[in-house]
Amino acid sequence: MKVLAVETSCDDTCVSVVDENGFVDLSLRQDQDEIHSPFGGIVPERASRNHSRHLLSLLDQAFNKISIEEISLLAFTSRPGLMGSLLVGSVTTRTLSELYEKPVLGINHIEGHILSPFLWDKEYQKKWSFPYLALVVSGGHTHLFEVQSLSKYILIGKTLDDAAGEAFDKFARFVGLPYPGGVYVDKTAQKGECSFSFPVAMDRKGLDFSFSGLKTSAHLLLQKVDVKKHRESLCASFQDAVVRQIMNKLEECIHLYPDYKRVAVVGGVSANSYLRKKCTVWAEKNSIDLALPPLRYCTDNAAMIGYTAIQKYLSGNFSKDLSCSANHRAEDFIGI
Ligand code: KG4
Ligand code: ZN
Repeated sequence: MKVLAVETSCDDTCVSVVDENGFVDLSLRQDQDEIHSPFGGIVPERASRNHSRHLLSLLDQAFNKISIEEISLLAFTSRPGLMGSLLVGSVTTRTLSELYEKPVLGINHIEGHILSPFLWDKEYQKKWSFPYLALVVSGGHTHLFEVQSLSKYILIGKTLDDAAGEAFDKFARFVGLPYPGGVYVDKTAQKGECSFSFPVAMDRKGLDFSFSGLKTSAHLLLQKVDVKKHRESLCASFQDAVVRQIMNKLEECIHLYPDYKRVAVVGGVSANSYLRKKCTVWAEKNSIDLALPPLRYCTDNAAMIGYTAIQKYLSGNFSKDLSCSANHRAEDFIGI
């Protein structure tokens, strides 16, 4: 059984075809980095207009490779995200559903990230199963979940202020790097030393994160140093502080939940090369089976939306609500 999925929650336009085993037949993505870069961040109206431009061309490409007869289900991201962007994906996918008389599901973007460790393709295979702990680190979320089984996710920790990706993006702007900031901080940091000291919310017990103190201290420090001269080391030091907090929380998490031997680190920030190295060493040291999907499934993609849809459809446990929302729906996650 194959699903065709569309993801347009933020600024990446994505189309994918996936089967019920998580095998990704096709994953297309068109970013809008150049469109938003001059503004230092995403301009929502520009994002939705460009989804309208890109989505039909990606669907054309998809239908050149696969016929609609092979597709049993359609899916789109219905929340959370930018309202205009979500609506482009929703209207387009629902039109295809009417036209070809195929069932359609609206999927939560975060649930897509949570289930992304199940995706595989010709170049990447990893066996994965429930239950596991999932850290979703993206532009809008830094959430830790106990993932018991399909649709049974308990939120056990989250950021009290900024998300990790948001912190990276804001810092990038402070030091004059282009959008999307996280990617450029990662690249720039590879040439620097961790010679500046940034605070890590070490004393905070429990599994909640906080990045606002770090952001403020970066802002203050940058007023005193020659940013151009020290950009590489500033990026390395800031990145180290973000990653140290994440690693502290993962460490605390496996002590609080010792029965879990599988941990997934997912979402756009999990593409960070320094975080990936630290996680890999940490998992080996603690005998943790770590899912760190390849970059194409860390950042936004439609394959994770398709896989989530097909699992929900086959289990019979899904919402028929096709409305879009900028926010979560409380019943999407048990425990929120
Ligand atoms: O999951 P995602 O693609 O979109 C959201 O759901 O938000 O995550 C986007 C976030 C952005 O904040 C971006 O700067 C960050 O992921 N990101 C990175 C890297 N690649 C993307 N942050 C740090 N290092 C990277 N290599
Ligand atoms: Zn995302």
